[in-house]
Amino acid sequence: QDSLYSERNRPQFHFTTRRGWINDPNGLIYHDGQYHLFYQHNPYEREWQNMHWGHAISDDLIHWEELPDALYPDELGTMFSGSAVIDYDNTAGFNTDGVPAMIAAYTADSPEKQVQCIAYSLDNGRTFIKYKGNPVIDSKHSWNSKDTRDPKVFWYKPGNHWVMVLNERDGHSIYTSANLKDWKYESHVTGFWECPELFELPIDGNPENTKWVMYGASGTYMLGSFDGKVFTPEAGKYPYTAGSIYAAQTFTNMPDGRRVQIGWGRISHAGMPFNGMMLLPTELTLRTTKEGPRLFNVPVKETEQLFSSVRQWENLTSDQANELLDEFDRADGLRIKTAFKLSHATSAGFNLFGQRIIDYDLNFNTVNGTFYSPADRTSMEISADIYIDRTSIEVFIDGGAFSYSMERKPHADNQEGFHFWGNNIEVKNLEVFSAQSIWK
Ligand code: FRU
Repeated sequence: QDSLYSERNRPQFHFTTRRGWINDPNGLIYHDGQYHLFYQHNPYEREWQNMHWGHAISDDLIHWEELPDALYPDELGTMFSGSAVIDYDNTAGFNTDGVPAMIAAYTADSPEKQVQCIAYSLDNGRTFIKYKGNPVIDSKHSWNSKDTRDPKVFWYKPGNHWVMVLNERDGHSIYTSANLKDWKYESHVTGFWECPELFELPIDGNPENTKWVMYGASGTYMLGSFDGKVFTPEAGKYPYTAGSIYAAQTFTNMPDGRRVQIGWGRISHAGMPFNGMMLLPTELTLRTTKEGPRLFNVPVKETEQLFSSVRQWENLTSDQANELLDEFDRADGLRIKTAFKLSHATSAGFNLFGQRIIDYDLNFNTVNGTFYSPADRTSMEISADIYIDRTSIEVFIDGGAFSYSMERKPHADNQEGFHFWGNNIEVKNLEVFSAQSIWK
């Protein structure tokens, strides 16, 4: 394993494939003690093409073992994004000898159309058998576009039926089914694009007080209610994350009820035998803010095992902080936690190699150009938890109220290193952690 993952630009604590191109995570599911990460994979080239479903498994969401691809192109098309469920009640009739089938719902893409299909596995996702009656939803073409894809399926307990959220036309459609084979169109929500998600979350951890979250591929979400057939939005669309992240999906059947997400990092790996990466798994929660419930996003607690605190300081000027950080600016992997206070400045931030990791603008209430409604802006303090890998940077602002991901571009000739900027800012807290590789 070591030699396979030892290339110069191999991310050290993010999942990447050994060879080829990856994009969206697919079929995220926990089953029988293992997390499954399927994903859009071109096993032959570093470019997007020939979509297969790649497959990796993990015991802890952090260390992944790549297995052979799980879904291969067929006469209906190449294998586009989708999801996975376990059919405990044998609604589709694929279960054998009491083994509940893992059922993947995916899109087959051909030059003519995109159709929805299912395949089942009786050996924990190692091999899939495609349903003979595919497609289960044929493209209707009642609108002038072939874009109808990315089925996200889940069991809706109160109604005893399956729900599929599907990207089509200008948003997400909702379909229902009793058996995963026959689907009925129910409703549509406009304003989203690709890779739909729909799930319920407690507010501030209270199971008696929940809202449904709908999101698409780009990092914006809507809160609302859901009756099994119709999602009714209660407010506008908000960003919870931005930057390189795209097409995130959440795990089905998490054993502890957490809502855990993995997003694709649209980050290119020049000169490497692989391309693209998965970002850190994060936990999504709803928390009350001054402006009502908002979606928060922070790395899962399992991530902690990778980082050891090496230095910590309090109450520094930005010049002092910049000097102290000098010794770390060439590190392969690093985590930096900080809180800094703006007193005479209306904007401030943090750079690495001249790249703006944080650009907080008080006047416009933006972080890195995206409008961000802070959880509690009673003080002029902003906090950040920053994960720096060889090719990527992820920043979690104010306890996850907003997050941002980007490509790391180390330039040998840029001596700027780490750099706080902004007039008279106070660095209240600064902690540096070393990072461990997941490949060893
Ligand atoms: C999103 C997406 C999906 C599609 C897949 C194809 O990145 O365009 O809508 O299913 O990628 O690889």
